[in-house]
Amino acid sequence: MFSDADAAALYDLLNPWEPESRPSDRFYDELVGAADSVLDIGCGTGAMLHWAREHGHTGRLTGLDPDRAALARARRRDDIEWVEGTAADAAWRAAFDLATMAGHAFQCLVTDDALRASLAAIRAALRVGGRFTFETRHPQARAWEDWNPSNARDLTDPAGRALRVWHRVESRAGDLVTFTGTTAEPGGRVLRVDRTTLRFLDVAALDAFLAGAGFGIEGRYGDWGGGPITGRSREIITVARRM
Ligand SMILES: C[S@@+](CC[C@H](N)C(=O)[O-])C[C@H]1O[C@@H](n2cnc3c(N)ncnc32)[C@H](O)[C@@H]1O
Repeated sequence: MFSDADAAALYDLLNPWEPESRPSDRFYDELVGAADSVLDIGCGTGAMLHWAREHGHTGRLTGLDPDRAALARARRRDDIEWVEGTAADAAWRAAFDLATMAGHAFQCLVTDDALRASLAAIRAALRVGGRFTFETRHPQARAWEDWNPSNARDLTDPAGRALRVWHRVESRAGDLVTFTGTTAEPGGRVLRVDRTTLRFLDVAALDAFLAGAGFGIEGRYGDWGGGPITGRSREIITVARRM
């Protein structure tokens, strides 16, 4: 048995929020620290907002995510508002200075309809001039090629179980990649398989969606140090502004 709660705890183990050592986390942490009110969409287990509150953020912090088990972990802090729902469900009006989708959560928006509905809701939730910041893996880097069992990781989970976790790509269709994440005992007995589809938009397609939703591009980076996008960039990092 490897429950949804176990999977959420494992997520935190595999993806600790560490702004002091991880440039991607620092990038978001600086933006969050400078904003009075923040809506973190696809907040997952809430680590980014937990860190911000713990490190002195006194403004409004709100996390939104459709995954109940992840939100249950997020709710361990009750001085932050946690809301269950998708980006498209966001019903706030001109309430936030900053909206974020960290940890490649933006790639979970896989259909054109989901992208349009999500961007419209995010825009409405922002004050005029508010920013929406997110990253998406650049398709040119073909990150999915690393998602295979030869990159399996062995670890001990928070409950003390020895585990082996790995990914396997099932299909690639256009800009969609579907893959499984398997959690197993070290001997190979499979405890759990999760299937995910992510969308890999290129810069032109991304910018068409953003412009169509009423966002302008304020900042665009190819790496977490603030460098421009080049032919070798692995990320498309965007700071969009509500027009
Ligand atoms: C890879 S996790 C990132 C979690 C967190 N932002 C981080 O940086 O660790 C992606 C998250 O996006 C959430 N998600 C999936 N579809 C979503 C949607 N349509 N709207 C908002 N969040 C979504 C998932 O439930 C998951 O918690």
